[in-house]
Amino acid sequence: MSTEHTLAAAQARDAHDPLAACRARFALPRDARGEPLVYLCGHSLGLLPLAARALVNEELDEWARLGVQGHEHARRPWIPYHENLTAGLATLTGADPGEAVAMNSLTVNLHLMLASFYRPQGPRRRILIEAGAFSSDRHAVTSQIAWRGLDPEDTLIELAPPPGEDLVPEEAIEACLARRGAEIALVLWPGVQFRTGQVFDIARIARAAHQHGCIAGFDLAHSIGNVPLALHAANADFAVWCSYKYLNGGPGAIGGCFVHQRHSSAQPRTRHGGALPGVRLAGWWGHEEPTRFHMPPQFEAAAGVAGWQISNPPILAAAPLIASLAIFTEAGLPRLRAKSVALTDFLDGLIRPLAPALHILTPADSARRGCQLSLRIGGSPGRGKQVFAALSARGMVCDWRAPDIIRVAPVPLYNRFEDVWRFAQALAQVLQETS
Ligand SMILES: Cc1ncc(COP(=O)(O)O)c(C=O)c1O
Repeated sequence: MSTEHTLAAAQARDAHDPLAACRARFALPRDARGEPLVYLCGHSLGLLPLAARALVNEELDEWARLGVQGHEHARRPWIPYHENLTAGLATLTGADPGEAVAMNSLTVNLHLMLASFYRPQGPRRRILIEAGAFSSDRHAVTSQIAWRGLDPEDTLIELAPPPGEDLVPEEAIEACLARRGAEIALVLWPGVQFRTGQVFDIARIARAAHQHGCIAGFDLAHSIGNVPLALHAANADFAVWCSYKYLNGGPGAIGGCFVHQRHSSAQPRTRHGGALPGVRLAGWWGHEEPTRFHMPPQFEAAAGVAGWQISNPPILAAAPLIASLAIFTEAGLPRLRAKSVALTDFLDGLIRPLAPALHILTPADSARRGCQLSLRIGGSPGRGKQVFAALSARGMVCDWRAPDIIRVAPVPLYNRFEDVWRFAQALAQVLQETS
C-alpha cells in the first residue's frame, strides 16, 4: 500500500481539513455499542443538522404559544416562511432573484412544470428522457403524455447508453436531438444520474435542446448540494429537486423548483402567464402576496417562480432546511466542492485497484462526477447483495441498487478521509472473504 493510502495519511488529511469542524454539527447514526457508523449515504438521506431540532421545536413552541396568529406573529412568520430558504437555494442552484423557490416535493413539482412546459403541438409532441430514468420521473412523464390523450409508448423517447456502456455521453444526446429534435417538445434530464453518479453538462444539454426548439428541464435530486450549479447561466428552462439528500432537509423535506426568468416575465400574470404558451396550474400561494388574503376570484401570479406555488408551505418540513442551508453558507460551495473532489478521488484511489472484483461505473474524471461512486460487484449473480450485506454488518452505511450496484457517497459536510479509508478496508476484506 502506498503511503498516501494509509490510515495515518487519511487522518493527516482530516487534521488539515478546513471543513473538519462541520462534522460535529450533524447527528451521526451509531451502532448498538454507540460507535458512529461509517455513513456514506448522503445521496439517499442526508444527516440531521443538530441545529434543526431547535428550529423545529421553535415552530412547535410558536404554534403552542400563538395558534393561528403564528402566521403573522411567529418569530419567523409562517406566511412568508418559504422565503427563509430562497437565498440559500438560489446560491446552490445558480439562480437569479425570483428563479428559485422551496415548495412541495420533487415529483409534484415535476408535474407542475410539465403542466406548464410540456405543450405538445402537431408533430412536436415527444418527450426525451434517459433509458433507466428514476421511476418517478418516468411515471410523471408517461402520465402527463397519457393525460393529454397521447400514447406514451409512441411518444416517449428513451435514450440508452451506447451498447455495452453504462454512461450516456452528451454527444449522444446532441445526436439524438439532431436526428429527432423536430419531433421533441421537451427534454427531461438529470443533473447527476442516480444510478451511475454521472454528472451531465446542463448548459450543453439546454443549448442542444434549444437549438432544436425543445424545452430543457432538469431533475436535480442528486445534484443540488453535491455539485456546483449555474441554472440561470446554463439557460435551463426549469428544474426540480428534493431536499432530503445532500441538502439534509430531513425525510420528506420540502422540495424546490427553478423557472428561468424569461418564462415568468414573458406573459401577463393574470392569464396564468409565464409558461409556454401561458398556462400553469395555480393555487392561492402562487397568487401575488399583497392581495392573496383578499381572496379575489381572479388569479394574479406572484412574480417569478413564486407564481407556481400552489399551497401554503409545510413549516415543519421546511424548518430543518434552514439549519442545513446556514451550514452550506458558512462552509461555502467552492470549499465544499474542493473537499468533495478530494474525498471521492481518495476513495477512487483506494478501491480502483480492487478490480476486477469490482468495477466503478462512475466516470473517473472528477469534473464528470459528484461525490457518489457506483460500484458494480463482479462474480456470480447474488454476490453483490452478499457484499452489500457484509458491509452493512461491518457498520458501513451505503445503499444497494438491484441488480448489482452499491452506491457510496462521501459527503464533504460530515464525512472524513478516515471514513473513506475504513470503507475501503472493509470492502477489500469483504471481497476477499466472499470470493
Ligand atoms: C432522481 C430522483 N428523482 C425523483 C425522485 C422522487 O422524489 P420525491 O419522492 O421527492 O418526489 C427521487 C427520490 O429519491 C430521485 O432520486
